[in-house]
This record gives sequence, structure tokens and C-alpha cells, in this order.
Amino acid sequence: MADLLIRNATLPDGRTGCDVLVTEGRIVDVAPRLSAAAAHVLDADGYLLSPPFVDAHFHMDSTLTYGLPRMNRSGTLLEGIALWGELKPLLTQEALVERALSYCDWAVAKGLLAIRSHVDICDPRLLAVEALLHVREQVKPYLDLQLVAFPQDGVLRSPGALDNLKRALAMGVDVTGGIPHFERTMAEGAESIRILCNLAAERGCPVDMHCDETDDPMSRHIETLAFHTRRLGMQGRVAGSHLTSMHSMDNYYVSKLIPLIREAGVHAIANPLINITLQGRHDTYPKRRGMTRVPELMAADVNVAFGHDCVMDPWYALGSGDMLEVAAMGLHVAQMTGVDAMRACFAAVTANPARILALDGYGIAPGCRADFVLLQARDPVEAIRVRAARLKVFRAGRVIAETPAATATLHLDGRPKSVDWTVRSSV
Ligand code: FE2
Repeated sequence: MADLLIRNATLPDGRTGCDVLVTEGRIVDVAPRLSAAAAHVLDADGYLLSPPFVDAHFHMDSTLTYGLPRMNRSGTLLEGIALWGELKPLLTQEALVERALSYCDWAVAKGLLAIRSHVDICDPRLLAVEALLHVREQVKPYLDLQLVAFPQDGVLRSPGALDNLKRALAMGVDVTGGIPHFERTMAEGAESIRILCNLAAERGCPVDMHCDETDDPMSRHIETLAFHTRRLGMQGRVAGSHLTSMHSMDNYYVSKLIPLIREAGVHAIANPLINITLQGRHDTYPKRRGMTRVPELMAADVNVAFGHDCVMDPWYALGSGDMLEVAAMGLHVAQMTGVDAMRACFAAVTANPARILALDGYGIAPGCRADFVLLQARDPVEAIRVRAARLKVFRAGRVIAETPAATATLHLDGRPKSVDWTVRSSV
């Protein structure tokens, strides 16, 4: 007998009436009206069963620190970086672990079961690295946490950062990070990419750099990142995070750049909530959005994900680990309101980041891990529109979080007794 049978689910690709059969933590069959018996049977009632949300870009060492040691008064990127510098010497491992675990609880409750988090390695104590390596082990049964060695103050600009970064990788951090636009000169930025890509290639680990997180149309480190990716044969294992300068670049140059990114198989990660709030700060009006060129990258077959980046930290006071909020912001900022474009925004917080993290057995198909979320929505667009409740979150076929359906009771004469913000159309 199988462990779990979910009946009558809608899948993100549009298939309806699907049954999903699970044995020993893996999906063994997906088809309409399966006749198998199972220990637990759940009627999905036509709701959307999606693989879990995946966040390809986050900072778990700073999350939930908002207000410590003080607020970011201007709300700018630079004051945020300065504030983080003030906070770093005050951090304790215990508090870091506690905050990270709390955030993972939030994530699980929102159906977010895989996160790639950057961890600042500029503090020679590597306190945050130790803390998050511990957290990675602790959450393993229910959440895949991938860590990036991130030299926040610049791997060349910050004394000792390169050694710290190598130590962090030796301690078990998964991915090599970087921040070329924060180095002292454009040339140093390019040199940092060369050094870090060589380092990653030697160690066989992926690369994910904060790249061109500026409004400067001449910040072109993504070109250098694509060059070294191809030179080292690292196609598919390198991601450029943010890429906000591309918003402001000359159109002719972008027409050359995007094919280079595609050719190098570099993934792009936009962070809509953060890009829309931190970029364009030197503008009066018109004020630039600052997010990278998502629909154009997608049209060129570049794999694009939306990340959350920050939740309640020196850079961003808001957020709750809700990747549907991220998708909704990305959709609006990029004006991706076409039918296929809206669905692509759902993929940008599910299947696309799963490719970047190279998650094993991700998806709803025979052989995949039985990790999925039952959403109170009939399709991916409705899920984004209503920020659908995560009715049930499954890990390896077991329910690990539940949320009651969202519904409001009405006290109006002659009107329905309740609403759930969904529409059943009839002509
Ligand atoms: Fe970031």
C-alpha cells in the first residue's frame, strides 16, 4: 500500500484532475483517477498542487535584525551597508542561529522549502558562517539551505576577505560569491571576478555573485562574469544576482550582452522587492524601476529567478518569506501582465530557481521527491493574485505545515455568507 494519495489536483502546467501517489517520500505516479490504495488520502478539490517555492537569493545572516542597532533612516542601500557594518561586531552566534531558525519556520509555513543564502565572510571570526552551517544541518529534514560565501565589503577591497572566503569554502559553504561593483575600480571589479571564478572552478563549486547592483549604465561586470564562465566551462553553474545596471544600459549594448549571457549559460536572479525600493534613489523624476530586463532575458532563453533578498534587515523593513509576494512585485515591475508572462512569474519562484540550486528530484512527476504545496488557488495566476493560502505543505510526503483557507464571513442582507476572493465564471 502507498503512503499517500492526493486526488483531483491541478498542476502548475495546467493539467487538472490529477492524482499523485507517494511511497517512501517519492512520487511514484501522477495520472487521472489512479486506482491505488494508500494509507492517507487527501482530496485536493481541484486546487493547485505545486512543487515548493524556492528562493535563489537571500541573506539569512541579517534577517530579522531590523532595528538593530538602529533603524535605516534613509532606507538606502549605502546606509544599509553602513548599518550592517555597525551590527556585525555585535552579532552573537546564538542570536544568529535563533533568528535563522525563526526565518526558516516562516519559510516552511509559506511553502518555501529551498533557500540559497549569502553569508558575509568579511568578519574574520566567520561567526555567521559557523552559525549558518549549523542551521543548514538542523533544518535539513525540512528545508534545503544552500550557502554562498559572500564578501560584502569586496573580496579585494576588504583586507583578508579572500582568505576568509577560502576558509568559508573549506568549512563547507557551497557556493562562491562576489560583489565586483563594490570593489574600488571597474578594473578591480573585473579582477575580482577572474580570481573568484578561478577559485570556484578549482574547487568545483558554483558561483553566484551580486553583480552590477547599481543604476550605473556603465557597470558591466555581468559581461566579465559571462566571459569567465565560458572560459572555465562553468555553463549552468554560475548566477548573476541583481544585474540592476542592465535596466539603465544602452539598448544597443544590451542586444549584444543578452546573447553572451545565454551563450555562457549564466542564470539571472532579480530581486523585485529590493530592486524597486533601493534602485533609482539618485533619480528625481522619471524615477527608474531598477530591476533587470526580465522579459527580455526570458525571451532569449536565459533562466531567470526572482529572489526575496531581504526580510526585516538593514536594507528592508518588510517581508514574511512569501514568494508569491515576490512574484507579484516582479510581475508588476516588469509589466509581465500577459497570460504566459504571469505564469512565467510563478515559474520564477519555483522551477527556475530550482534549476539554479540544482535541486535533486524537484517537480511533480514520478521519481521526484514528494515535496509540494497545496495552494488555495485554481492556477498559478490566481495563486499570485490572492497570495494563496498554503493549505498544506508536504516534505517527503509528510505534512509539515498547514494554514486554514482564507475566507471572510459577511453580514450583509441578501448577499452570500462568505467570500474567498475567487471567481467561478458563468455566462
Ligand atoms: Fe543580496
